[in-house]
Amino acid sequence: MTQTGVRIAGVGHYVPDRILTNADLERTLETSDEWIQTRTGMRERHIAAPDQPTSDIALHAALDALGRAHRTAQDVECVIVATVTPDYPFPATACILADKLGIAGVAAFDIEIACSGFIYGLTVAAGLVRSGIFKRVLLVGAEELSRIVNYEDRSTAILFGDGAGAVVLEASEHDSFLAAELGSDGSNPASLCIPAGGTATSPLTPEDLIAKRNTMVMNGREVFRFAVTKMIESTNIALDRAGLAPSEITWLIPHQANRRIIEAAAKHLDMSADRVIMNIDRYGNTSSASIPIALSETERDGKLKDGDIVLFVGFGGGLSWGAVAWRWSTNGNGSVN
Ligand code: ACO
Repeated sequence: MTQTGVRIAGVGHYVPDRILTNADLERTLETSDEWIQTRTGMRERHIAAPDQPTSDIALHAALDALGRAHRTAQDVECVIVATVTPDYPFPATACILADKLGIAGVAAFDIEIACSGFIYGLTVAAGLVRSGIFKRVLLVGAEELSRIVNYEDRSTAILFGDGAGAVVLEASEHDSFLAAELGSDGSNPASLCIPAGGTATSPLTPEDLIAKRNTMVMNGREVFRFAVTKMIESTNIALDRAGLAPSEITWLIPHQANRRIIEAAAKHLDMSADRVIMNIDRYGNTSSASIPIALSETERDGKLKDGDIVLFVGFGGGLSWGAVAWRWSTNGNGSVN
């Protein structure tokens, strides 16, 4: 199998129309706009319509990315969806997305590793292209967290939103993938999980539904501490593997979970705020969609230049974490058609 390079040929995103503001949350919860903004940096998030499944918002993001890559769905050989909010417990949302794109028959699978989904997905997708298995892979991070949030629990209800981000990865003479670090610790799933509905518990009961054990629970303080530590550690490991120093990062694109987490990690890495991408105020935490949405906006704003070093870093349920060091390539010279 011949080793080739990989590049991101196009990036896109989509968020549903409906907006849930802090003022809206103030009306139903004992919370305040001031508390939410100070503790998280969030002002509003987008919420999918009841008849809009994850595959639908993924489709919008995918078409945006394909258009910006000047490719069609028919050019794609493999579809990967990173999500914890699939259309169904199974089959994989990627299969449904491939069908909606009109390319049923291609390889398609989901990655379920919560907010680390895009980082894991990027590593897997880049590996599939670099190994020569596929020439072009569509990777989508798509989440409808509003469907698994308990809107009576103020400690989580304020945090999450819906959205999708997508990248088209393709074989290239020049290699954008520099290094990755991935990790996990499954010793305490209860720190961030949906307690009921899986095989570790009895089948979902009416009591579970009444107690809302089919929605997300989280030990916020524990996850906060873990997040800052792992963001710094995994960034440093990925940089080390790439032979780079933090000062060589052009753009840090972190998972958007909490402004204070991002600022603490960026400070430790000595990254000035103008090199750190943050859009958490407008979208909240969209899990595996947050990094590709941020990347898509950064690209659309014309900030990304050829040769820029982009450091993607994320963490989430699992617990899990990861970072990818990437050299941005704007031209498709040598890319495979
Ligand atoms: N409004 C007002 N007060 C609140 C709210 C709210 N929405 N939520 C909690 N409080 C209260 C608490 O009850 C507590 O009150 P007390 O002191 O009287 O007990 C006080 O505020 C402080 O609570 P903390 O939990 O210590 O607040 P903290 O500053 O840690 O912020 C938060 C909470 C925002 C959840 C933070 O811990 C956090 O961001 N954690 C990380 C979450 C995360 O990153 N998750 C990502 C993974 S998601 C995934 O993988 C799907």
